[in-house]
Amino acid sequence: MMSFLKYKKILLIITGGIASYKALDLIRRLQENNVTIECILTENAKKFINLITFESLLGKKVHSNLFSLSEEKEMNHIRLANTVDAILVIPCTANFIAKMANGIADDLSSNILLASNKIKIIAPAMNSNMWNNTAVKTNLKFLSKINVKIFSPKKGRMACGSVGSGKLMEVNDIIENLNDIFSPKELSGLKIIVSAGASQERIDPVRFLSNYSSGIQGYEIAKSIQCLGAKVILITGKTNLEKPKNIKVISASNADDFYNKTVSNLPCDVFISAAAISDWKPKKKITEKIKKMGKEISITFKQNIDILEKISKHKKRPRLVIGFSAETSKLITNSKKKLLKKNCDWIIANNVKLSNVFGSSKNKVSLITKNKIENWPEMKKSQVAKKITKKIVKFFKKNKLI
Ligand SMILES: Cc1cc2nc3c(=O)[nH]c(=O)nc-3n(C[C@H](O)[C@H](O)[C@H](O)COP(=O)(O)O)c2cc1C
Repeated sequence: MMSFLKYKKILLIITGGIASYKALDLIRRLQENNVTIECILTENAKKFINLITFESLLGKKVHSNLFSLSEEKEMNHIRLANTVDAILVIPCTANFIAKMANGIADDLSSNILLASNKIKIIAPAMNSNMWNNTAVKTNLKFLSKINVKIFSPKKGRMACGSVGSGKLMEVNDIIENLNDIFSPKELSGLKIIVSAGASQERIDPVRFLSNYSSGIQGYEIAKSIQCLGAKVILITGKTNLEKPKNIKVISASNADDFYNKTVSNLPCDVFISAAAISDWKPKKKITEKIKKMGKEISITFKQNIDILEKISKHKKRPRLVIGFSAETSKLITNSKKKLLKKNCDWIIANNVKLSNVFGSSKNKVSLITKNKIENWPEMKKSQVAKKITKKIVKFFKKNKLI
């Protein structure tokens, strides 16, 4: 994940609920991301967690008292409200949601929120009956309307023993969502189609021809460009990967299906063909299961449609077409040939013989364009995705297309 949290200043308000202790973990994660944190505990939060734990973790004082002259002298509460990049209320109680929705300012935290014009984010956590209560729902609806960002709780077992909605969002997801909020939306306005995973060519009703592609690289690219505001359509073969957030995911089976689903989503600004599409498909349609007969079997395969070439030469050709090339020998020569023959703009080439690329979280690739070759060192597939994303931003900026 590209971190956009570095050097951000965040005011974290912790309210009084069972999940208050989770704020400690959140602080650590924010610190790991080089975030400067100011912290306030509500009076009720102090009944759940110990101030000293927070102060030692932060290495500074927690703000708490609105009417303390010394605190006001040190850091005026209006200044605190507006010198940060965002205010987070995590966990946020039903009570605090109600206060925020009604403009109540009877303690330091609620005063600061009223006085601030910065980004406001809340992550509610409460018993599921409370979460489902109409008063809470109405308050949340209103907060959303006045631009407070809500990191919704998830389902799970609550401290009170009941199972249902209301559990604080996982800290990892909080960090990820926060990162999304701060990401510069350099690709906003662009529509990008990414294909990922392996195709499956049906042989008979129970068998298919496929390959080892895990889909990781394509999914990482889709997530990375979405993070910069692009509208992403991910056309994917079967994978074990989690469905990425805020991305339209379309399932595809064989090459023809991948192609049709890509074409029906044109026009787009960029097409990234990271799916491993079978070059071959069985020549004949076999309607019955092939029986075990004799010692050998031969099936005739014929060439499949070449999606990359078709899209690159399509009348609605995207401004930028990026292909992937998996070769076991003559990587650069073969990839360069592919680039020219297929008329695509860039090829991301990897040697699938050298390392265990399929299913691995790492990749060593070369970026090949019409006039240059860049050999990138081995790195995580998420890093490769980020590098490709940066290149896309640069391409569109250079050509003054965004
Ligand atoms: C043991 C216990 C656990 C509580 N847990 C929660 C909770 O998880 N979520 C919530 O909204 N309120 C919870 N409450 C109620 C709040 O503590 C109460 O509404 C309080 O006024 C919140 O104050 P604050 O919003 O100023 O921090 C709990 C209360 C008790 C006694």
